Amino acid sequence: MFDIVLRGALSLEQAEHAVGAALSSSARGERVHLDLSGLRSFQPGAASRIGNAIREVARRSALTATMPHDRRGLSALLAAGIGPQFAAHASTLRTTAGPRTKELRKELASVPALPTTDLLVTTLPRHPAFVSRKRAAVRSLVDEWLSNFPTARGRLPETRERNSIVELIVEAGSNVLDHSSKRPWSGEPVHSLLRLQWRYREELQLLPEGFTGEDESTRYLGALVDGLPEVGALTGLLEISVVDDGVGIAARQALDADIVKDPSTATERRAFADALVAGGTVKLRALDCPVEMEPGFGSEWILHSIRSMYGYASIRSGRVSVSFNALLEGDGGTGFALDPVDRSWVGGTILTVLLPVFERPRPVAEVAPASDRLF
Ligand SMILES: Nc1ncnc2c1ncn2[C@@H]1O[C@H](COP(=O)(O)OP(=O)(O)OP(=O)(O)O)[C@@H](O)[C@H]1O
Ligand SMILES: [Mg+2]
Repeated sequence: MFDIVLRGALSLEQAEHAVGAALSSSARGERVHLDLSGLRSFQPGAASRIGNAIREVARRSALTATMPHDRRGLSALLAAGIGPQFAAHASTLRTTAGPRTKELRKELASVPALPTTDLLVTTLPRHPAFVSRKRAAVRSLVDEWLSNFPTARGRLPETRERNSIVELIVEAGSNVLDHSSKRPWSGEPVHSLLRLQWRYREELQLLPEGFTGEDESTRYLGALVDGLPEVGALTGLLEISVVDDGVGIAARQALDADIVKDPSTATERRAFADALVAGGTVKLRALDCPVEMEPGFGSEWILHSIRSMYGYASIRSGRVSVSFNALLEGDGGTGFALDPVDRSWVGGTILTVLLPVFERPRPVAEVAPASDRLF
Protein backbone atom coordinates (compact mmCIF):
# COMPACT_ATOMS: atom_id res chain seq x y z
CA MET A 1 0.00 0.00 0.00
CA PHE A 2 1.39 3.40 -1.01
CA ASP A 3 0.35 6.15 1.44
CA ILE A 4 -0.07 9.78 0.43
CA VAL A 5 -0.90 12.13 3.30
CA LEU A 6 -2.09 15.69 2.60
CA ARG A 7 -2.51 18.26 5.39
CA GLY A 8 -3.57 21.87 6.01
CA ALA A 9 -3.66 24.18 2.99
CA LEU A 10 -3.03 22.27 -0.22
CA SER A 11 -0.82 24.14 -2.69
CA LEU A 12 -0.80 23.47 -6.42
CA GLU A 13 2.67 21.99 -6.25
CA GLN A 14 1.68 19.59 -3.49
CA ALA A 15 -1.39 18.57 -5.48
CA GLU A 16 0.74 17.95 -8.59
CA HIS A 17 3.19 15.82 -6.59
CA ALA A 18 0.39 13.81 -5.02
CA VAL A 19 -1.15 13.14 -8.45
CA GLY A 20 2.22 12.05 -9.86
CA ALA A 21 2.92 9.72 -6.95
CA ALA A 22 -0.58 8.19 -6.99
CA LEU A 23 -0.43 7.54 -10.73
CA SER A 24 3.00 5.97 -10.75
CA SER A 25 2.38 3.69 -7.78
CA SER A 26 -0.98 2.58 -9.19
CA ALA A 27 0.74 1.91 -12.54
CA ARG A 28 3.08 -0.46 -10.67
CA GLY A 29 -0.04 -2.26 -9.42
CA GLU A 30 0.42 -0.97 -5.86
CA ARG A 31 -2.69 -0.12 -3.87
CA VAL A 32 -2.92 3.60 -3.13
CA HIS A 33 -4.10 5.23 0.08
CA LEU A 34 -4.88 8.95 -0.11
CA ASP A 35 -5.28 10.50 3.34
CA LEU A 36 -7.22 13.77 2.96
CA SER A 37 -8.40 13.88 6.57
CA GLY A 38 -6.16 16.82 7.55
CA LEU A 39 -6.97 19.06 4.57
CA ARG A 40 -8.59 22.38 5.39
CA SER A 41 -8.23 24.64 2.33
CA PHE A 42 -7.03 24.57 -1.24
CA GLN A 43 -5.02 26.92 -3.40
CA PRO A 44 -7.14 27.77 -6.47
CA GLY A 45 -7.11 24.76 -8.81
CA ALA A 46 -5.41 22.36 -6.35
CA ALA A 47 -8.47 20.31 -5.38
CA SER A 48 -9.50 19.69 -8.99
CA ARG A 49 -6.11 18.25 -9.87
CA ILE A 50 -6.59 15.58 -7.22
CA GLY A 51 -10.24 14.97 -8.15
CA ASN A 52 -9.54 14.63 -11.87
CA ALA A 53 -6.78 12.05 -11.36
CA ILE A 54 -8.97 9.74 -9.29
CA ARG A 55 -10.66 7.99 -12.21
CA GLU A 56 -7.32 6.82 -13.65
CA VAL A 57 -5.70 5.90 -10.31
CA ALA A 58 -8.73 3.75 -9.42
CA ARG A 59 -8.75 2.17 -12.89
CA ARG A 60 -5.17 1.01 -12.47
CA SER A 61 -5.36 -0.34 -8.91
CA ALA A 62 -7.42 -0.27 -5.69
CA LEU A 63 -7.78 3.18 -4.14
CA THR A 64 -8.58 3.86 -0.48
CA ALA A 65 -9.34 7.42 0.62
CA THR A 66 -9.48 8.71 4.18
CA MET A 67 -11.85 11.65 4.54
CA PRO A 68 -12.02 14.16 7.42
CA HIS A 69 -14.02 12.84 10.37
CA ASP A 70 -15.18 16.29 11.51
CA ARG A 71 -17.95 18.22 9.78
CA ARG A 72 -15.79 21.27 9.00
CA GLY A 73 -13.13 19.26 7.24
CA LEU A 74 -15.62 17.21 5.25
CA SER A 75 -17.49 20.38 4.23
CA ALA A 76 -14.29 21.94 2.85
CA LEU A 77 -13.74 18.85 0.73
CA LEU A 78 -17.33 18.70 -0.48
CA ALA A 79 -17.31 22.41 -1.27
CA ALA A 80 -14.21 21.92 -3.42
CA GLY A 81 -16.45 19.82 -5.68
CA ILE A 82 -14.32 16.66 -5.72
CA GLY A 83 -16.71 14.46 -3.70
CA PRO A 84 -18.46 12.86 -6.69
CA GLN A 85 -15.17 11.58 -8.13
CA PHE A 86 -14.23 9.85 -4.88
CA ALA A 87 -17.79 8.54 -4.50
CA ALA A 88 -17.69 7.04 -7.99
CA HIS A 89 -14.18 5.64 -8.17
CA ALA A 90 -12.59 4.89 -4.75
CA SER A 91 -12.92 1.26 -3.73
CA THR A 92 -12.75 1.97 0.02
CA LEU A 93 -13.75 5.17 1.81
CA ARG A 94 -13.00 5.77 5.47
CA THR A 95 -12.58 8.44 8.09
CA THR A 96 -9.97 8.47 10.85
CA ALA A 97 -12.62 6.64 12.94
CA GLY A 98 -12.73 3.64 10.58
CA PRO A 99 -14.20 2.37 7.28
CA ARG A 100 -17.49 3.97 6.21
CA THR A 101 -17.59 3.28 2.48
CA LYS A 102 -21.36 3.11 2.09
CA GLU A 103 -22.28 6.24 4.08
CA LEU A 104 -19.42 8.30 2.64
CA ARG A 105 -20.24 7.30 -0.91
CA LYS A 106 -23.70 8.74 -0.41
CA GLU A 107 -22.50 11.87 1.35
CA LEU A 108 -19.71 12.64 -1.14
CA ALA A 109 -22.08 12.43 -4.08
CA SER A 110 -24.41 15.02 -2.52
CA VAL A 111 -24.38 18.78 -3.10
CA PRO A 112 -23.06 20.43 0.06
CA ALA A 113 -24.40 23.45 1.94
CA LEU A 114 -22.08 26.35 1.12
CA PRO A 115 -21.54 29.85 2.45
CA THR A 116 -24.05 32.17 0.76
CA THR A 117 -21.24 33.85 -1.18
CA ASP A 118 -20.36 30.59 -2.92
CA LEU A 119 -22.22 28.58 -5.52
CA LEU A 120 -21.60 25.09 -6.79
CA VAL A 121 -23.24 23.46 -9.77
CA THR A 122 -22.28 19.84 -10.21
CA THR A 123 -23.00 17.94 -13.43
CA LEU A 124 -23.30 20.93 -15.74
CA PRO A 125 -25.25 19.22 -18.53
CA ARG A 126 -28.18 18.71 -16.16
CA HIS A 127 -28.41 22.31 -14.94
CA PRO A 128 -31.17 24.33 -16.66
CA ALA A 129 -28.76 27.20 -17.41
CA PHE A 130 -26.62 24.92 -19.54
CA VAL A 131 -29.28 22.64 -20.95
CA SER A 132 -30.94 25.66 -22.55
CA ARG A 133 -27.63 27.41 -23.40
CA LYS A 134 -29.39 30.68 -22.65
CA ARG A 135 -27.25 33.60 -21.56
CA ALA A 136 -30.19 34.89 -19.51
CA ALA A 137 -30.19 31.71 -17.42
CA VAL A 138 -26.46 31.96 -16.72
CA ARG A 139 -27.00 35.64 -15.98
CA SER A 140 -29.52 34.81 -13.22
CA LEU A 141 -27.07 32.31 -11.77
CA VAL A 142 -24.35 34.97 -11.65
CA ASP A 143 -26.76 37.57 -10.23
CA GLU A 144 -27.84 35.13 -7.54
CA TRP A 145 -24.20 34.56 -6.61
CA LEU A 146 -23.31 38.25 -6.57
CA SER A 147 -26.44 39.28 -4.66
CA ASN A 148 -24.97 37.63 -1.57
CA PHE A 149 -21.78 39.64 -1.58
CA PRO A 150 -21.00 41.54 1.58
CA THR A 151 -21.24 45.06 0.11
CA ALA A 152 -19.37 46.48 3.10
CA ARG A 153 -16.32 44.64 1.75
CA GLY A 154 -16.10 46.65 -1.43
CA ARG A 155 -18.06 47.48 -4.53
CA LEU A 156 -19.94 44.79 -6.40
CA PRO A 157 -19.02 43.88 -9.97
CA GLU A 158 -21.15 46.14 -12.14
CA THR A 159 -23.04 45.51 -15.35
CA ARG A 160 -20.19 45.31 -17.83
CA GLU A 161 -18.15 43.14 -15.47
CA ARG A 162 -21.14 40.85 -14.92
CA ASN A 163 -21.54 40.57 -18.65
CA SER A 164 -17.90 39.51 -18.92
CA ILE A 165 -18.37 36.93 -16.19
CA VAL A 166 -21.48 35.58 -17.95
CA GLU A 167 -19.64 35.27 -21.30
CA LEU A 168 -16.79 33.44 -19.65
CA ILE A 169 -19.07 30.95 -17.92
CA VAL A 170 -21.19 30.42 -21.03
CA GLU A 171 -18.13 29.62 -23.16
CA ALA A 172 -16.39 27.40 -20.62
CA GLY A 173 -19.66 25.61 -19.72
CA SER A 174 -20.51 25.03 -23.40
CA ASN A 175 -17.10 23.48 -23.88
CA VAL A 176 -17.89 20.90 -21.20
CA LEU A 177 -21.17 20.07 -22.95
CA ASP A 178 -19.69 20.14 -26.46
CA HIS A 179 -16.45 18.29 -25.91
CA SER A 180 -15.84 16.53 -22.58
CA SER A 181 -17.59 13.20 -23.23
CA LYS A 182 -17.43 13.17 -27.03
CA ARG A 183 -15.06 11.49 -29.54
CA PRO A 184 -12.51 9.95 -29.15
CA TRP A 185 -14.49 8.92 -26.06
CA SER A 186 -17.75 7.14 -26.59
CA GLY A 187 -20.03 8.90 -24.15
CA GLU A 188 -18.47 7.75 -20.85
CA PRO A 189 -20.03 9.50 -17.84
CA VAL A 190 -18.12 12.63 -16.92
CA HIS A 191 -18.09 14.56 -13.66
CA SER A 192 -18.27 18.28 -14.16
CA LEU A 193 -18.70 21.35 -12.05
CA LEU A 194 -18.98 25.09 -12.03
CA ARG A 195 -17.81 26.62 -8.78
CA LEU A 196 -18.21 30.31 -8.01
CA GLN A 197 -16.39 31.37 -4.91
CA TRP A 198 -15.62 34.61 -3.14
CA ARG A 199 -12.31 34.88 -1.32
CA TYR A 200 -11.56 37.72 1.08
CA ARG A 201 -8.35 39.64 0.88
CA GLU A 202 -7.44 38.52 4.40
CA GLU A 203 -7.83 34.92 3.33
CA LEU A 204 -5.37 35.55 0.49
CA GLN A 205 -2.78 36.88 2.85
CA LEU A 206 -3.10 33.72 4.87
CA LEU A 207 -2.74 31.48 1.86
CA PRO A 208 1.02 31.81 1.22
CA GLU A 209 1.56 29.42 4.10
CA GLY A 210 0.33 26.73 1.71
CA PHE A 211 1.89 28.28 -1.38
CA THR A 212 5.07 26.70 -2.54
CA GLY A 213 6.84 26.72 -5.85
CA GLU A 214 7.06 29.41 -8.45
CA ASP A 215 3.86 28.83 -10.34
CA GLU A 216 2.29 31.71 -12.19
CA SER A 217 -0.81 32.02 -9.97
CA THR A 218 1.37 32.60 -6.90
CA ARG A 219 3.14 35.43 -8.71
CA TYR A 220 -0.19 36.87 -9.82
CA LEU A 221 -1.64 36.85 -6.29
CA GLY A 222 1.51 38.40 -4.89
CA ALA A 223 1.24 41.31 -7.34
CA LEU A 224 -2.46 41.82 -6.57
CA VAL A 225 -2.13 42.08 -2.83
CA ASP A 226 -0.22 45.36 -3.34
CA GLY A 227 -3.17 46.86 -5.25
CA LEU A 228 -3.12 48.79 -8.52
CA PRO A 229 -2.78 52.59 -8.72
CA GLU A 230 -5.80 53.06 -11.03
CA VAL A 231 -8.29 51.08 -9.00
CA GLY A 232 -6.92 51.14 -5.45
CA ALA A 233 -6.59 48.34 -2.97
CA LEU A 234 -7.74 44.78 -3.52
CA THR A 235 -10.84 43.93 -1.47
CA GLY A 236 -11.40 40.37 -2.57
CA LEU A 237 -11.22 37.87 -5.33
CA LEU A 238 -13.79 35.98 -7.36
CA GLU A 239 -12.75 32.47 -8.16
CA ILE A 240 -14.47 30.67 -11.01
CA SER A 241 -13.75 27.02 -11.73
CA VAL A 242 -15.11 25.04 -14.64
CA VAL A 243 -13.95 21.46 -14.41
CA ASP A 244 -14.68 18.16 -16.13
CA ASP A 245 -12.87 14.84 -15.86
CA GLY A 246 -13.58 13.90 -19.45
CA VAL A 247 -11.54 13.41 -22.61
CA GLY A 248 -9.20 16.41 -22.20
CA ILE A 249 -8.28 19.19 -24.63
CA ALA A 250 -5.43 17.66 -26.67
CA ALA A 251 -7.15 14.27 -27.10
CA ARG A 252 -10.37 15.97 -28.16
CA GLN A 253 -8.71 18.41 -30.54
CA ALA A 254 -6.69 15.61 -32.21
CA LEU A 255 -9.56 13.07 -31.90
CA ASP A 256 -6.92 10.69 -30.56
CA ALA A 257 -7.08 9.30 -27.01
CA ASP A 258 -3.54 7.89 -27.27
CA ILE A 259 -1.98 11.32 -27.71
CA VAL A 260 -1.46 11.50 -23.93
CA LYS A 261 0.32 8.12 -23.87
CA ASP A 262 3.18 9.08 -26.18
CA PRO A 263 6.30 9.34 -23.96
CA SER A 264 7.11 12.63 -25.70
CA THR A 265 4.62 15.44 -25.05
CA ALA A 266 5.46 17.27 -28.30
CA THR A 267 2.34 16.16 -30.22
CA GLU A 268 0.11 16.69 -27.20
CA ARG A 269 1.45 20.22 -26.74
CA ARG A 270 0.88 21.00 -30.41
CA ALA A 271 -2.74 19.80 -30.30
CA PHE A 272 -3.36 21.77 -27.08
CA ALA A 273 -1.94 24.96 -28.55
CA ASP A 274 -3.90 24.40 -31.76
CA ALA A 275 -7.14 24.09 -29.76
CA LEU A 276 -6.59 27.40 -28.00
CA VAL A 277 -5.55 29.46 -30.99
CA ALA A 278 -8.30 31.76 -32.34
CA GLY A 279 -10.36 29.72 -34.82
CA GLY A 280 -8.82 26.43 -33.64
CA THR A 281 -11.65 23.96 -33.27
CA VAL A 282 -12.46 20.28 -33.63
CA LYS A 283 -16.12 21.03 -34.30
CA LEU A 284 -15.97 20.99 -38.10
CA ARG A 285 -14.09 17.68 -38.11
CA ALA A 286 -15.98 15.94 -35.32
CA LEU A 287 -19.47 17.03 -36.40
CA ASP A 288 -20.90 15.72 -33.14
CA CYS A 289 -21.90 18.94 -31.37
CA PRO A 290 -23.74 22.18 -32.13
CA VAL A 291 -21.90 24.59 -34.44
CA GLU A 292 -22.87 28.24 -34.14
CA MET A 293 -21.68 30.53 -36.91
CA GLU A 294 -17.89 30.45 -37.05
CA PRO A 295 -16.66 28.09 -34.30
CA GLY A 296 -13.32 28.14 -32.49
CA PHE A 297 -13.55 31.46 -30.68
CA GLY A 298 -14.66 30.28 -27.23
CA SER A 299 -11.18 30.61 -25.75
CA GLU A 300 -10.88 34.09 -27.26
CA TRP A 301 -14.01 35.18 -25.42
CA ILE A 302 -12.69 33.70 -22.20
CA LEU A 303 -9.42 35.63 -22.60
CA HIS A 304 -11.29 38.79 -23.50
CA SER A 305 -13.36 38.63 -20.29
CA ILE A 306 -10.33 37.99 -18.13
CA ARG A 307 -8.34 40.75 -19.78
CA SER A 308 -11.13 43.24 -19.15
CA MET A 309 -11.09 42.45 -15.43
CA TYR A 310 -7.30 42.26 -14.76
CA GLY A 311 -7.79 38.55 -14.15
CA TYR A 312 -5.78 35.37 -14.24
CA ALA A 313 -6.61 32.01 -15.77
CA SER A 314 -5.00 28.64 -15.95
CA ILE A 315 -6.06 25.58 -17.92
CA ARG A 316 -4.69 22.19 -16.99
CA SER A 317 -5.42 19.15 -19.12
CA GLY A 318 -3.53 15.95 -19.89
CA ARG A 319 0.14 16.66 -19.15
CA VAL A 320 -0.01 20.30 -20.15
CA SER A 321 -0.75 23.51 -18.33
CA VAL A 322 -1.23 27.02 -19.72
CA SER A 323 -1.80 30.30 -17.97
CA PHE A 324 -2.78 33.85 -18.72
CA ASN A 325 -1.93 36.77 -16.44
CA ALA A 326 -3.66 39.98 -17.50
CA LEU A 327 -1.39 42.06 -15.23
CA LEU A 328 1.62 41.11 -17.36
CA GLU A 329 -0.03 41.86 -20.67
CA GLY A 330 1.37 44.51 -22.95
CA ASP A 331 -0.75 46.32 -25.52
CA GLY A 332 -1.02 43.58 -28.12
CA GLY A 333 -2.20 40.81 -25.80
CA THR A 334 -0.33 37.56 -26.05
CA GLY A 335 -2.93 35.06 -24.90
CA PHE A 336 -2.31 31.83 -23.04
CA ALA A 337 1.32 30.91 -22.32
CA LEU A 338 2.28 27.23 -22.36
CA ASP A 339 4.06 26.11 -19.21
CA PRO A 340 7.27 24.40 -20.43
CA VAL A 341 7.19 21.88 -17.55
CA ASP A 342 5.60 18.51 -18.34
CA ARG A 343 3.19 17.42 -15.62
CA SER A 344 1.74 14.09 -14.57
CA TRP A 345 -1.35 13.26 -16.54
CA VAL A 346 -4.67 14.48 -15.12
CA GLY A 347 -7.99 13.62 -16.66
CA GLY A 348 -10.29 16.13 -18.30
CA THR A 349 -9.96 19.87 -18.20
CA ILE A 350 -9.51 22.23 -15.27
CA LEU A 351 -10.15 25.91 -15.88
CA THR A 352 -9.38 28.16 -12.93
CA VAL A 353 -10.12 31.87 -13.20
CA LEU A 354 -9.31 34.55 -10.65
CA LEU A 355 -10.95 37.95 -10.96
CA PRO A 356 -9.92 40.64 -8.51
CA VAL A 357 -12.36 43.08 -6.92
CA PHE A 358 -10.87 46.48 -6.15
CA GLU A 359 -11.96 49.52 -4.11
CA ARG A 360 -12.73 51.61 -7.20
CA PRO A 361 -14.14 50.70 -10.61
CA ARG A 362 -11.77 50.55 -13.54
CA PRO A 363 -11.91 53.93 -15.31
CA VAL A 364 -13.77 53.93 -18.61
CA ALA A 365 -11.57 55.06 -21.51
CA GLU A 366 -12.11 58.80 -22.00
CA VAL A 367 -13.85 59.88 -25.16
CA ALA A 368 -12.20 62.90 -26.77
CA PRO A 369 -14.34 66.08 -27.02
CA ALA A 370 -16.29 66.29 -30.29
CA SER A 371 -14.14 69.08 -31.78
CA ASP A 372 -11.02 66.87 -31.56
CA ARG A 373 -12.59 64.03 -33.45
CA LEU A 374 -11.87 63.32 -37.06
CA PHE A 375 -15.50 62.67 -37.96
N1 LIG B 1 -13.75 20.87 -21.78
C1 LIG B 1 -13.14 20.46 -22.89
N2 LIG B 1 -12.88 19.13 -23.09
C2 LIG B 1 -12.23 18.70 -24.21
N3 LIG B 1 -11.83 19.52 -25.19
C3 LIG B 1 -12.05 20.83 -25.06
C4 LIG B 1 -12.71 21.37 -23.93
N4 LIG B 1 -12.76 22.71 -24.08
C5 LIG B 1 -12.17 23.00 -25.25
N5 LIG B 1 -11.75 21.87 -25.87
C6 LIG B 1 -11.03 21.79 -27.16
O1 LIG B 1 -10.57 23.11 -27.48
C7 LIG B 1 -11.07 23.52 -28.75
C8 LIG B 1 -11.31 25.01 -28.75
O2 LIG B 1 -12.36 25.39 -27.88
P1 LIG B 1 -13.16 26.74 -28.18
O3 LIG B 1 -14.18 26.92 -27.15
O4 LIG B 1 -12.16 27.85 -28.39
O5 LIG B 1 -13.84 26.46 -29.60
P2 LIG B 1 -15.03 25.45 -29.93
O6 LIG B 1 -15.67 24.96 -28.67
O7 LIG B 1 -14.48 24.41 -30.82
O8 LIG B 1 -16.02 26.38 -30.76
P3 LIG B 1 -16.95 27.58 -30.16
O9 LIG B 1 -16.49 28.82 -30.86
O10 LIG B 1 -18.34 27.17 -30.52
O11 LIG B 1 -16.73 27.66 -28.70
C9 LIG B 1 -12.32 22.67 -28.97
O12 LIG B 1 -12.63 22.54 -30.36
C10 LIG B 1 -11.90 21.34 -28.33
O13 LIG B 1 -11.10 20.60 -29.22
MG1 LIG C 1 -16.26 26.37 -27.21
